[in-house]
Amino acid sequence: MRTPSTVVVTGGAGFIGSHTCVELLEHGYELIVVDDYSNSSPRVFSRIQRTAGRPVHAVHWVDIRDRHALSRVFDRHSVDAVVHFAAKKAVGESTRNPVEYYDTNVGGTTALLQVMQDHGVHDLVFSSSCSIYGDADRMPLRENSPARPTNPYAASKWTCERILSDVCRFRPEFRVLSLRYFNPVGAHPSGLLGEDPRGRPANLMPYLAQVAIGRRESLRVFGDDYPTPDGTGIRDYIHVMDVAAAHRLALDHVHEGTGMRVFNLGAGSGTSVLELVAAFGAACGRPIPYAVEGRRPGDVAALVADSSAVAREWGWQPKYGVAAMCRDALRFQRLNPFGYEDSADPVAVAAGADVQTPE
Ligand code: UD1
Repeated sequence: MRTPSTVVVTGGAGFIGSHTCVELLEHGYELIVVDDYSNSSPRVFSRIQRTAGRPVHAVHWVDIRDRHALSRVFDRHSVDAVVHFAAKKAVGESTRNPVEYYDTNVGGTTALLQVMQDHGVHDLVFSSSCSIYGDADRMPLRENSPARPTNPYAASKWTCERILSDVCRFRPEFRVLSLRYFNPVGAHPSGLLGEDPRGRPANLMPYLAQVAIGRRESLRVFGDDYPTPDGTGIRDYIHVMDVAAAHRLALDHVHEGTGMRVFNLGAGSGTSVLELVAAFGAACGRPIPYAVEGRRPGDVAALVADSSAVAREWGWQPKYGVAAMCRDALRFQRLNPFGYEDSADPVAVAAGADVQTPE
């Protein structure tokens, strides 16, 4: 069996997707990106090329639920494996519009699996989430800790994992690695790539970065009455570069095992909202203004990973700490105050790449 070389990356224009594209390009993979730009920009591809030193091979503007368009992508390229990022990921939004979350996250995954099956592609790295553990009583969380999703986003990821597990059980030619990320933050140290959400950021780190540069006035801290030392939510933040490195290792190893395997990806230490606010203030040299509001629906008190399984399996260890996460997120925000949309980067991908308009 050989290591996959041509890889479809769904959601490759997004935050984790774009950093993973760079890591994969730097390690010799050929990439076919599928994205609908619903929370990303096609301008990211020139940044990916500048960072990695070579372009992605092709880019297709496709909604992941559109299996006919997806099928045409697989008809055009000889695909060895898939990394599936494309999904919606805001907890609050998922409580307001659960149907959309199931439709995109679960419907998108089943469409992809059908197309993979039809084209004889069986190796998949799936973007899962620590949110599936929900309100857990014991930290750190191991892969066999019980799943108790508390919001539709988390439930949609858990549903996908159960589907993938069934697919692997009854179609043993499939090999799936599901990576349960804790809270990926930070940016590429070059400042060329980072998190560029559309509209008001739903997540803490990009919001902090926008407050730091004066694009927003003040952070809203969602709840200070959790059973944690300072009352604010504790999360296990992990640098996006470490997450990208784990995806490359996953692809290097996906063909080795059988069935479905699941790994946590976290740093193994918890940081509260107020601790992150303080760390960000230290990175930018002035305090970040904030006001405490009520809890956000669907949120839990604390989530901290035990990532020893992935360390044992592939020797993966996070390299970056919270200070580097804040420094890099801030650098990206300073260099790109309004993200990619406002930049001079061309929309078209660099020479040699194949840009598709909506199918
Ligand atoms: C959620 C998921 C996580 C997923 C991530 C994707 C859960 C429990 N976790 O992370 O699996 O990878 O989305 O984006 O579902 N906060 C504020 N003010 C803000 C924003 C957030 O105080 O403006 C607080 C939240 O209440 C939470 C912490 O900051 O305590 C982190 O929130 P966020 O960055 O949104 O990530 P999660 O919800 O933990």
